[in-house]
Amino acid sequence: MKAPTFHDHNLLHDIAGKVGTPAYIYSADVLRNRIKEFNSAFSGYPTTLCFAVKSLSNLSILKMIFSDGFGADIVSGGELERAITAGVSPSKVVFSGVGKQPEEISKALDYGIRMFNVESPWEIEVIAEIARSKKVKARIALRINPNIDAQTNAKISTGLYSTKFGLPETELPELLAAIKSHPELQLTGLACHIGSQITDIKPLAAAAEKMAHLAISVREQGFPLQYLDLGGGLGIQYHNENPPSIAAYSEPLIRAAKRANLELIIEPGRALVGNTGILLTKVVGIKKTPSKHFIVVDAAMNDLIRPTLYGSYHEISAVTSSSSNDKVVCDFVGPICETGDFIAQDRSVCLPEVGGLYAIESCGAYGSAMASHYNSRPKAAEVLVEGASYRIIRKREELRDIWAAELSELK
Ligand code: LLP
Repeated sequence: MKAPTFHDHNLLHDIAGKVGTPAYIYSADVLRNRIKEFNSAFSGYPTTLCFAVKSLSNLSILKMIFSDGFGADIVSGGELERAITAGVSPSKVVFSGVGKQPEEISKALDYGIRMFNVESPWEIEVIAEIARSKKVKARIALRINPNIDAQTNAKISTGLYSTKFGLPETELPELLAAIKSHPELQLTGLACHIGSQITDIKPLAAAAEKMAHLAISVREQGFPLQYLDLGGGLGIQYHNENPPSIAAYSEPLIRAAKRANLELIIEPGRALVGNTGILLTKVVGIKKTPSKHFIVVDAAMNDLIRPTLYGSYHEISAVTSSSSNDKVVCDFVGPICETGDFIAQDRSVCLPEVGGLYAIESCGAYGSAMASHYNSRPKAAEVLVEGASYRIIRKREELRDIWAAELSELK
C-alpha cells in the first residue's frame, strides 16, 4: 500500500502555522483502515495482533490501536509502562529483547503479561528465580533464530546466526531440560522474528513453516504449547517496493499455525503505522556549492534518523507550491552539524521559497520513536488529524525539557 497521506495542503499550512515545524502528523483515518485490514486478514483464525510499540510509541496512537483489540509487543520496562498507560490488556503483552533486566521482568510478572519471549539461556534462570521469589508462574516462549535470511537491510535483519537475536534450534534439548527443571516456568509457545521491512513473502513463509515443525516436535516432547508467535517484519512501500498485501502475508502464517494446531501471534509495527504519518518540515534556506544544491529544512537527523542510519528512502512532497517550474537536483538536509545529516539526496524538484513546506512521507514507523536531542534540539510536536480537524498528541518540547535532569544537578 502506498501512503494515501495528506492531500489537504490548507490543513497542513494551518498546522504549520499553529503548531510549528518540524511536526509529525498522523492520519487517524488511514490508521483505522489499516487496523481493519489487519483484523480482517486474521479474523478467520485465533490470532492476537501485538503491535510493536517500538515502531510508534505515542500514547494517543497506542490507545487507538489497543482499543481496537490489539495487544503489544514490548522490549523494555518503558514500553511496558507506555502500553499499560495506553490501556493494553496485560494478557495480550509479549516481552521480547536480548537484555531484559530483573526489574523489568519483575514488573512484567506483576502485571501478568502473556509471555516472555526468551532470547538467551541465562534468561530462563533469571525469570525462574524472580517468579519463584514472587510465588507465581511465568509463561515463556523460546524465541528461535531460524537462520533464515529475510533479504532486507543488514541493520534490521535478525533471522541469521550472525545476529544477536533468538536461540538456535540446535540448543533446544538443553533449553527444554532447563525449563523442565523449573516448576515455576510454563513453556507456552515458540517465537521468531527474522527482520523488518521484508518485501518478499518467501523468507516469512519459510520461517513460519520451520517454526511450525519445531513446535510440533517440542509438543511431542511433553510441552503443551499454546502459541506460535511469528513476529513482525512485513514491509511497506516507501518508493518502488512491492510488498505483499496483508491478506497475502496472512496466508502462510495462518497455514503454519494451523498445521501446528496453535494460536497465532504476530507483532506488526511498520506495516500497521508506517504509512499513516508524515514529517512536516519548513525550508530554512537554499545553498549552492560548486557541486550541489542543498535545500536546508528545519527537520534533521535527530527527528528522522532512518536516511542517515540505513540509507532509507522517504518520498518528499511539496506542500507549498513553487513559483518556479525549473527542476533542479537537490539534497534535502537538516541544520545538524554532520555531513550525514540528510533527509533525502539527489531529488529533482522545483526550487522552493524560503518558508515553503514539505511533507516527508511514510514516517509513521521508526520516525518519532527514534528521535533524539542531538544538537540540543527539542523533539518535534506530534499531531493527529481526524477528518478536517486535528489535535496535538505530543507537545513540542521546550528547551527546559531537554536539560531538566542536568539543571537540577548543576552546582
Ligand atoms: N517483533 C520484534 C521482536 C522486533 O524486534 C520488531 C522490530 C518487530 C516485531 C516489528 O517489526 P516490523 O513489523 O516493524 O518490521 N528502526 C528500523 C526497524 C527496526 C526494527 C526492530 N524490530 C527502521 O527504521 O527501519
